[in-house]
Amino acid sequence: MPVPMLLSDQALFRDRDVFDPDHIPDTFQYRDGQLRDMAYAIKPALFGSRPHNIILRGIPGTGKTTCVRHIFGEIRETTRRIIPVHVNCRNDHTRHMVFSRIYREIYGHLPPGSGISLRRLLDSIGRELADGRRVLLLCLDDADCMIPEGVLSDTLFPVLRLPEEFPGARSGVILAVSDMDCDLQRELDTPVVPVLQASEISFPPYGEAEVRGILAHRLRQGVCPGVVPDAILDVIVEKTMLCGDLRVGMELLRRSVQNAENAGKTGVSEDDVLPAFALAQNVCLSETVKVLNTDEKRMLRSMAEYSMQEEQMNSRAVYASVREEVPMGYTLYFERLKKFDRMQLISLDTPKARGNTREIALRFDAGSVVDECGE
Ligand SMILES: Nc1ncnc2c1ncn2[C@@H]1O[C@H](COP(=O)(O)OP(=O)(O)O)[C@@H](O)[C@H]1O
Ligand SMILES: [Mg+2]
Repeated sequence: MPVPMLLSDQALFRDRDVFDPDHIPDTFQYRDGQLRDMAYAIKPALFGSRPHNIILRGIPGTGKTTCVRHIFGEIRETTRRIIPVHVNCRNDHTRHMVFSRIYREIYGHLPPGSGISLRRLLDSIGRELADGRRVLLLCLDDADCMIPEGVLSDTLFPVLRLPEEFPGARSGVILAVSDMDCDLQRELDTPVVPVLQASEISFPPYGEAEVRGILAHRLRQGVCPGVVPDAILDVIVEKTMLCGDLRVGMELLRRSVQNAENAGKTGVSEDDVLPAFALAQNVCLSETVKVLNTDEKRMLRSMAEYSMQEEQMNSRAVYASVREEVPMGYTLYFERLKKFDRMQLISLDTPKARGNTREIALRFDAGSVVDECGE
């Protein structure tokens, strides 16, 4: 008889789902201030007035999406007057996709026919809002993905102008951005800026104690008691702080317990954590790479290939090599390097003197970068 494989070993997990990136935590600590500021901004909509537009800004893994989900859940339980629409711009990144999502939220089904024009979509949305005196609250999550080719401006403008076109209709937007240096005033088209008038809510990175608190709570929910000793949790917290993204911590926890379970052990030890780390880090890599455009991906891939051959990565020498692959001027090249640095894909050392070349280091394993950036 073959040995049963699937159900053979003891289960160390109580509930694996709590480690999914999309899991909505039941307790959500450390973001009371942000939730309160969001509530203030949205409140006028409860009384049928126009909500204040807001920008949520913080590096990935700081709880922006979770806050939006939290507040939207509360809105759905409280009122039918506000129509919350949460769009993940990594997936839905055209105007048509966004308006179809709004339509679906209002009417409960997708717009009829695939070829319905933007104008007709907007008319149906605007009329329903005006007739029902309802307020559209649109969240464009990871809105930075929409900046290239002016998609963000083209999407925001008609939404923000709905009240003028359809008297009685009200609308407000929440923009969540992960790029700390992205200057929306500069990136958005001139007519959009004065109608947006958004205030910013900042999501600073979690400190070590907060990361520990969040991971410990997930651990209690998802894993049987005693499986992960305190000392091991300390190692996981330390590694999470090192790469600065809570999502890596969650993934590292899940993979470490999985490794121990696969080995038939009753508890996690350090040798379950270390091999899990490299793989867990790739969670951020793939999330971050998704935001890059095609040329940026090609440039990053080419840099990773360079790093496999050369010991040192000096910015001038790297430029000479990557521009064969992706033709571009030095200024654009340098802008992109700085962007990769901000996105924590690479690190750039501080120049010793003005005009000096800079040393570059990839923050991820070069082979994984090549894989993630694709052909
Ligand atoms: N304060 C918190 N308490 C519990 N879990 C949190 C908290 N903040 C973030 N998380 C978890 O961390 C992960 C990343 O959060 P997310 O809201 O997706 O961040 P962002 O949208 O800023 O990238 C999610 O799995 C989320 O459940
Ligand atoms: Mg998010």
